[in-house]
Amino acid sequence: MSDKAKVIQKDLKKFSVTPNLSDYDKTYKDFTWENVEKEEIEFFEDGTLNIAYNCIDRHVKTDKKDKKALLFEGANGEKEQYTFSDLKALTDKFANVLVSQSVKKGDRVFIFLPSIPERYVVFFGILKMGAVAGTMFSAFQEMALVDRLSDSGAKVVITNAALYPRIKKIWKDLPGLEKVIIIERGSEEQPVGEKIVYYKDEMDKAKSDFEISHMEKDDYSYMLYTSGTTGKPKGVMHAHYDILQAIVTTKYVLDVQVNDIYWCTADIGWVTGVVYATLGPWGLGVTQVMSEGRFSPESWYKLIQDYKVTLWYTAPTAIRMLMGSSVDPRDFDLSSLRQIYSVGEPLNPEAIWWGLDAYGLPFHDTWWQTELGGISITNYPALDIRPGSMGKPLPGIKAAIIDDEGKELGDGKEGNLALLASTISSLMKTIWRNEKKFNSYFIEKWYISGDKAMRDKDGYYWFIGRADDVIKTSGERVGPFEVESSLVEHPSVIEAGVIGKPDEVRGEIIKAFVVTKPGIEQTEELKEELKVYVKKHLAGHAYPREIDFIDKLPKTRSGKIMRRVLKAKELGLPVGDTSTLEDY
Ligand code: WT7
Repeated sequence: MSDKAKVIQKDLKKFSVTPNLSDYDKTYKDFTWENVEKEEIEFFEDGTLNIAYNCIDRHVKTDKKDKKALLFEGANGEKEQYTFSDLKALTDKFANVLVSQSVKKGDRVFIFLPSIPERYVVFFGILKMGAVAGTMFSAFQEMALVDRLSDSGAKVVITNAALYPRIKKIWKDLPGLEKVIIIERGSEEQPVGEKIVYYKDEMDKAKSDFEISHMEKDDYSYMLYTSGTTGKPKGVMHAHYDILQAIVTTKYVLDVQVNDIYWCTADIGWVTGVVYATLGPWGLGVTQVMSEGRFSPESWYKLIQDYKVTLWYTAPTAIRMLMGSSVDPRDFDLSSLRQIYSVGEPLNPEAIWWGLDAYGLPFHDTWWQTELGGISITNYPALDIRPGSMGKPLPGIKAAIIDDEGKELGDGKEGNLALLASTISSLMKTIWRNEKKFNSYFIEKWYISGDKAMRDKDGYYWFIGRADDVIKTSGERVGPFEVESSLVEHPSVIEAGVIGKPDEVRGEIIKAFVVTKPGIEQTEELKEELKVYVKKHLAGHAYPREIDFIDKLPKTRSGKIMRRVLKAKELGLPVGDTSTLEDY
């Protein structure tokens, strides 16, 4: 029997702790969003709410007030702890700081920081005063930054001395950017400037109580830029009501319970970091671990061992790196682990079998997207796992495989993975200043994910691939257009076509096909120079690891690059329908 056909059976009697969701079918049948809303989130008396109240303030009114919310380990091994009361005071202060800097409800305030506790303080401070929190990955360089900050019209950016030079370079192109707040941690020397504000100075002056903003369910809470096939990254807008799906999934899927020590390895610059390293765990008042250091098998295992992590949510690329490493997990005491999870790209069955062997636990693959704001199709601790399948829809959510016209397809048929829009509680509200793009996600009542998938006769969903040219490298979503735009800025380049090329560890790597200007020598040195160029100007993680020079790019008669032709040739696959291809 092939691995694919094997099932990992769950026997609840063998669990040390009964999962929050112990009967998938029954929960799915009985579930209503209205019921869980009553149980899981708190509104103010006037019917409004605030994510920050649900994640922090309400716990301070209970016996969780002195509970540790955050266990932080810095890059140099320094340790810090924050209770929910500490976070309440700090986030109130920061909300006051923003008000004193004339930030208003609805203004966009962006966070550009490494993994340090202040990220949380500023994130919730922003939400408390009703502004919109934008997060950005710390590997972003000026091109990625300018796209996001100018499109959103960000008023304030919060960063540190090490990252500030990137903002400084582009500030002239950002007329809406009024202030930059610098977090002093980690650097002796601080940048100076008329519009630069120092975090510590302002926090010292600020009062530690704040009248939290009452927000409507649909009022914006956070925004994140994400990539599609064409054009610049799009601003996905999420609401305060998102907290409900964040909490429900953290409870039912990640199985967070009161005494857990939870660790989600994602960076807050990505949606997993916002929802599952921020909203979900603290919505449930659980203790979480945060690590500033870079990935290494030793440091990750040591973190799990030292902090006795019980729930661990990570990504396929990391899992495959652990798999390929010579570091043996059995040399560490990882016995605290109770459940483990994965997200971001397909989790290959081998990784699940390996996990079972290495940790005695199966990884649970979870599927969702930036636009969805929370796990939507997934495996559950109490449900048998079919390795290679992303599992079943979240209670509350209806999923289907549909054709291009919106007609539902039967089991076993490949098609567009769609969700019934009205059943996704944390679905994005819109795309920032781009209603047209927002509307393009829907076919009538269906939200179209852009993924191709299949459902088997038992209701398990199987990921097949992207329906578009979006690249997934190490779980991060990269638009080919952004990389192409960055490459053509280089003086030697005329044109570039960029694809995702399958890679055993990273899922995909970015591969570029480059047309150079006449007279330019196509050397290995130039390839290296182009890689560094993209790394330095667009983002540290979004550069082409492979480059080929090419005479001419395949294009449609209307001039669009046909990336699928590049991809098919690269992989030695049939090129498919080329009727729209111009002479090639
Ligand atoms: C795209 C969304 C989910 C939050 C982080 C990524 C791919 C995501 C899986 C999975 C196969 C997956 C899809 C999806 N993807 N999870 N479990 N199996 N593919 O969010 O950056 O918005 O990317 O990531 O292609 O559409 P994102």
